[in-house]
Amino acid sequence: MNINEIRAQFPVLDQQVYGKPLVYLDNAATTQKPLCVIERERDYYLHENCNIHRGVHYLSQKATEAYEHARQTVADFIHAKESREIVFTRGTTESLNLLATSFEHLFPLLRGCPKGGGLIPEPQFPGQTHRSAPTLASPKVLVTAMEHHSNLVPWQQMVQRHHGQLLVVPMDDKGVLDLEQYEKLLREGPQVVSIAHISNVLGTINPIKQMIAMAHEYGIPVVVDGAQSMAHHPIDVQDLDCDFFVFSGHKMYAPMGIGGLYGKAEWLGKLPPYQFGGEMVDTVSFEKTTFNVLPFKFEAGTPNVGAALGLETAIQFLQSLDRKEVEAHENQLLHSAIQQLSEIDGIRFIGQAEQRSGLVSFIIEGVHPYDLGTIIDKMGVAVRTGHHCAEPVMTRFGIPGTVRASFALYNTLEEVEIFVKAVKKAAMMLR
Ligand SMILES: Cc1ncc(COP(=O)(O)O)c(C=O)c1O
Repeated sequence: MNINEIRAQFPVLDQQVYGKPLVYLDNAATTQKPLCVIERERDYYLHENCNIHRGVHYLSQKATEAYEHARQTVADFIHAKESREIVFTRGTTESLNLLATSFEHLFPLLRGCPKGGGLIPEPQFPGQTHRSAPTLASPKVLVTAMEHHSNLVPWQQMVQRHHGQLLVVPMDDKGVLDLEQYEKLLREGPQVVSIAHISNVLGTINPIKQMIAMAHEYGIPVVVDGAQSMAHHPIDVQDLDCDFFVFSGHKMYAPMGIGGLYGKAEWLGKLPPYQFGGEMVDTVSFEKTTFNVLPFKFEAGTPNVGAALGLETAIQFLQSLDRKEVEAHENQLLHSAIQQLSEIDGIRFIGQAEQRSGLVSFIIEGVHPYDLGTIIDKMGVAVRTGHHCAEPVMTRFGIPGTVRASFALYNTLEEVEIFVKAVKKAAMMLR
């Protein structure tokens, strides 16, 4: 992996802020975009822009073909069986809202069974022509103590509407989930399990394959929030056997405003639509509407075609690299950062799991994370401070927030050194 060649593809990195070279370590919030992605989106608007799926003319057909090709590329990238299992959305948040809303309408049709039998969806969804949800009998959704608000609030709001309950898998002081408690909570009969693959605060890589297999023992479908994993680790949804996998393009070198939802075809087929309007319908009269086939049933209105093509290019960019080498490089950055930061008096790492991805969260005794972030910004170093949209994680550790440095394939060991030096200097100034 030639880092200089890679960095040359990310022009935004080559700039000064406050007279210092930019050190961008806020990749868990969003990654920078390579030139090929920017150019692909630009090209679309320069030469191909057209609304898709409903035109007989040349441009419309070309744009439709390109958009469906992008869908196939996403499917291949995560090893989905078929491209109709990929729904384009605005990103992880929209994918999770889609699922929480659609499951809300499916829940009354799921019946709980003891271990081995599980929740058996009825073969058809009879309410396909309307959306009035029957009252649920106390729905339960199982999440973990380390979820991003996006994988918590949509489920919480949904279960609360029906006087149901969120079941929460606890974690230990290192940020590792308690699988014994998980097993116990599965026995309480949640209708859905929804878990982060990688925590955006702690960096913990959860043992999702094992957790999926455990939930399936009870017949419970599993949603995986892959927002923090797609850019950094190869994903095989068939090997994981997850029922749903959601992600955001902008966290994997693609444009903002595009992301996806993978769902096993049999599940997507059962879930009712999320939004209504053009494109997602088959036939419409004043009396009745029937819905389009997968995946179009879930793609109401005009999609972000240009961004979907940018996402395809971002995937091709990742595929052009040796993913194992990328993993090893990001791991090296992480461990170098941890080792150097450990020298700071009063540092406390938040998240110390053995299985972890390329980000480090910490606080320093007597120093507010916000003040530290503000000072190192003036030294050119961009990190994130605060609760990282995971307030329950902050409550769990009894802290107001953390400083989080998150790495991407274009970061260097020199940048890690600059970052740690900046942190040390800021901590001295603030104490
Ligand atoms: C684990 C996790 N889930 C969900 C999200 C939400 O992603 P988006 O804002 O792209 O929808 C994020 C964003 O940081 C995240 O880290």
